[in-house]
Amino acid sequence: MLDADRVAREVNAFYERHPYPPPVDDLERYRQSWNEDRRRAEAHLFWPDEPYREDRTILVAGCGTSQAAKHAMRWPRAKVVGIDVSATGIEQTERLRRKHGLDNLELRQLPVERASELGRTFDHVVCTGVLHHLPHPDTGLQALRDVLAPNGAMHLMVYAPYGRAGVYLLQDYCRRLGIGTTADEIEALAASLRALPPDHPLMPLLRSAPDFKDQAGLADALLHPQDRAYSVPQLFEFLRAGGLRFGRWLGQAAYLPQCGALASSAHLPLLSRLPVEEQYAAVELFRGSMVRHSVVAYRIERPDHERVDFKGDAWLDFVPLRAPDTVVVQERLQPGAAAVLINRHHTYTDLYLPITAQQKKLVDAIDGKRSIGEIAPEHALRQVARVLFEGLWWYDQVVFDLSRTRVEGRM
Ligand SMILES: C[S@@+](CC[C@H](N)C(=O)[O-])C[C@H]1O[C@@H](n2cnc3c(N)ncnc32)[C@H](O)[C@@H]1O
Repeated sequence: MLDADRVAREVNAFYERHPYPPPVDDLERYRQSWNEDRRRAEAHLFWPDEPYREDRTILVAGCGTSQAAKHAMRWPRAKVVGIDVSATGIEQTERLRRKHGLDNLELRQLPVERASELGRTFDHVVCTGVLHHLPHPDTGLQALRDVLAPNGAMHLMVYAPYGRAGVYLLQDYCRRLGIGTTADEIEALAASLRALPPDHPLMPLLRSAPDFKDQAGLADALLHPQDRAYSVPQLFEFLRAGGLRFGRWLGQAAYLPQCGALASSAHLPLLSRLPVEEQYAAVELFRGSMVRHSVVAYRIERPDHERVDFKGDAWLDFVPLRAPDTVVVQERLQPGAAAVLINRHHTYTDLYLPITAQQKKLVDAIDGKRSIGEIAPEHALRQVARVLFEGLWWYDQVVFDLSRTRVEGRM
């Protein structure tokens, strides 16, 4: 316990010195990036089976310098609470709250482990980049589960191990050298990294990850006093121990063997035979470079009415909404393709979906109001529509509003 206290104190001191993310002065551009369509798509990502609502209660746990303010801004009719152990993080968020008149935001300097002291439950609990820094992540997760409303949805992000192998090598290197977190030491570390061999496992992250572009990011990655990562099986175990069940990956295509390069591999039949959790675990090993996992999780006892399933006929009632940040590319196409669909959040370049001219007409007809059955009423189109919309779902091109679907047991 004493050791846990020491770790918690060190983590807290670390974030007081290196607030994360680097503080921002203004969120006006952020506000402009959110409109009604984006909010709807976000709501149905977390609650496919519930009608759209804007008035949910949201807890941003370990909110850092701006995340809670961002949630309050993008959901003006929601009530948002931000908690963090770091006084600096709370002060920075308070500054944004005042500047932008975010009356729907309440802030408390409180550790996630003591979330129950808020004395209420939340429809949405957001906790990204935090639990893997706790001395006892299980305790933190259970505390968050306890404040999740029965129908609530949790958004969690934790580190993944294989893509961070280079980070762990450098963390060990820095520990051995006794490198601390003063500005001078971080600057010297940044300079030394320029001498890293080009084939060092850290290089891909150094080249591409925005977190390595500034000192706070560098310190957060390489000099953190407490940092663990979860492989897919460890993550599922973590959720179960926390009384939660897996809902979906935020970006699911990267985990599905039927998406991207593996879809045309000789291993696809073997992968498809595995239970889905094991498919995800195998794909994580195959990809080898995942650095984080972002999931939607629900209380273990919540009925899984949100599950998207293309067996039977219920899918005809699904209402598709285009996922934000998807793009339709119409240049340099392979023969037979009328367009290629890309989700800009995907980091793997094999995750693109070519579609035919017939399929493109159906994609163009998505308006967030009509169901698939209304978009493709002709019986002859049913099979085309089923294959297309299931593919769009796998590739994170759409989310579904299932609230019009008749499911036994659902209100
Ligand atoms: C990497 S930052 C992530 C910030 C924010 N969630 C985001 O994604 O932008 C980690 C944050 O967790 C906070 N933190 C660490 N341990 C905590 C704890 N036990 N309870 C609450 N916050 C904690 C830190 O102070 C820091 O602000």
